[in-house]
Amino acid sequence: MKIITLEQGVHFQILFWITGSLLLQLTSAQPENNHETTKQTTDSSIFFYQQPGFPRDCKEVRDQCDLSNSSGIYLIKPDTCVEPFEVYCDSSHDAGGWTVIHRRFENGSVEFNRNWESYKNGFGFFSHEFYLGNEKISLLTNQNKYELIFEITTSNGSTFQQSYENFRIGDEFSNYKLVSLERNSGTLFQFSHFVDCQDAYTSGFIDNGIYKIKPNDWPGSAFNVYCNMTDGGGWIVVQRRVDGSVDFYLDWDNYKQGFGNLNSEFWIGNEKLHFLTNAKRQEIRIDLVNRNGAPYFAKFDHFRINNETDNYRLSVVGTYSGTADSRSNPDGYALRYHLARPFSTYDRDNDPWSGNCAINRHGAWWYNECAASNFNGEYFGPRDSYRSIEWETLPGSIYNIQFTEMKIRPFAG
Ligand SMILES: *[C@@H]1O[C@H](CO)[C@@H](O)[C@H](O)[C@H]1NC(C)=O
Ligand SMILES: *[C@@H]1O[C@H](CO)[C@@H](O)[C@H](O)[C@H]1NC(C)=O
Ligand SMILES: *[C@@H]1O[C@H](CO)[C@@H](O)[C@H](O)[C@H]1NC(C)=O
Ligand SMILES: *[C@@H]1O[C@H](CO)[C@@H](O)[C@H](O)[C@H]1NC(C)=O
Ligand SMILES: *[C@@H]1O[C@H](CO)[C@@H](O)[C@H](O)[C@H]1NC(C)=O
Repeated sequence: MKIITLEQGVHFQILFWITGSLLLQLTSAQPENNHETTKQTTDSSIFFYQQPGFPRDCKEVRDQCDLSNSSGIYLIKPDTCVEPFEVYCDSSHDAGGWTVIHRRFENGSVEFNRNWESYKNGFGFFSHEFYLGNEKISLLTNQNKYELIFEITTSNGSTFQQSYENFRIGDEFSNYKLVSLERNSGTLFQFSHFVDCQDAYTSGFIDNGIYKIKPNDWPGSAFNVYCNMTDGGGWIVVQRRVDGSVDFYLDWDNYKQGFGNLNSEFWIGNEKLHFLTNAKRQEIRIDLVNRNGAPYFAKFDHFRINNETDNYRLSVVGTYSGTADSRSNPDGYALRYHLARPFSTYDRDNDPWSGNCAINRHGAWWYNECAASNFNGEYFGPRDSYRSIEWETLPGSIYNIQFTEMKIRPFAG
């Protein structure tokens, strides 16, 4: 990994080999002072030129040292730092000036399973594997704006790169908290799991897409979700229909675990939906687009389902707002009609009707007698069969739905 300042800041870059090696570098740009700089012969640790002033990072080393164009070890002294210290500067990548903060190789010659103190102070050898240390990274990233780059080489030689802007970590009092990190380019690569999409959003990840989350106290492992970062950001998408590519006529266990493709059509799974809607108060936003492309939405300021023992009963449907209820006194009837009903699938009939609503409606839902909404029904199913995706209060034809999306977010009040 290495960092370097860009025109307006610092870049940070990480290089690592999936099978065991990792390189991290950091460098800064646009020096505000004309520091004298140290320089070094290529691939040597011997300093042959040094002045009383020090560059603040590798970018300044590069900018101030015409002759020191090579990668190697240099002395820098970030603002507020009492003593200068050594860093490895990488000149090979993108015009150079990167300060390497972490590097690992496949051979794993350095032990990285270390305690707090080691990670605070840094360890390893600049010539192969090392970690610069949280204290130094904190000093560096708080003096300027830095870009961080991860460079990854897999064992078969494929390389990947991910760049972030505004990389900054706090001081030891904050436990070196990752204070800011903004996605820049490349494929998504996360440092750690977010608690939910809102956590990702407030951490600066503002693009729609798949994120790995692990909600607090979630008993399973981290899982992927699709985060929709529109309308204030932070929405976890729990259901989507977009083209009929996924079969939604599935059984209880499929609806319990979730199925489909996060980039197109899917159901998040009732276990997760139950956990998320009980861990925190969640609001829900439901988007619909009709066959002509007209969009509508319904929002409810509270949404909760019970656990499997209670058949994932729809236990709370809060106050409605939106455009998807065409009645004169809109209250989100199309969903509210299902309030207090348990979930039903074709193999688990929990509805109060004499027949089996899930079979009749070709879906799975909190069926009553039977449905004022049916998002898991047949995509553009024949209207007269009642099998189709439906939202009963939609302006115009209630079956003419080409897009649905249900998403939840912690309610802010
Ligand atoms: C130093 O690096 C710059 C940018 O990569 C390059 O244009 C220049 O030719 C290099 N100078 C030497 C002496 O290698
Ligand atoms: C570890 O791997 C790196 C990169 O391939 C190599 O430069 C270094 O010499 C290796 N070190 C040992 C101890 O094998
Ligand atoms: C190397 O592995 C990656 C996955 O780790 C794969 O995507 C890529 O196609 C592979 N490249 C070659 C040349 O085998
Ligand atoms: C995200 O949500 C908005 C409504 O806030 C919706 O219009 C849009 O289609 C959604 N985007 C994706 C990719 O799901
Ligand atoms: C399900 O929730 C009810 C309360 O709503 C609780 O009494 C019951 O123990 C829960 N069942 C499981 C398996 O957690």
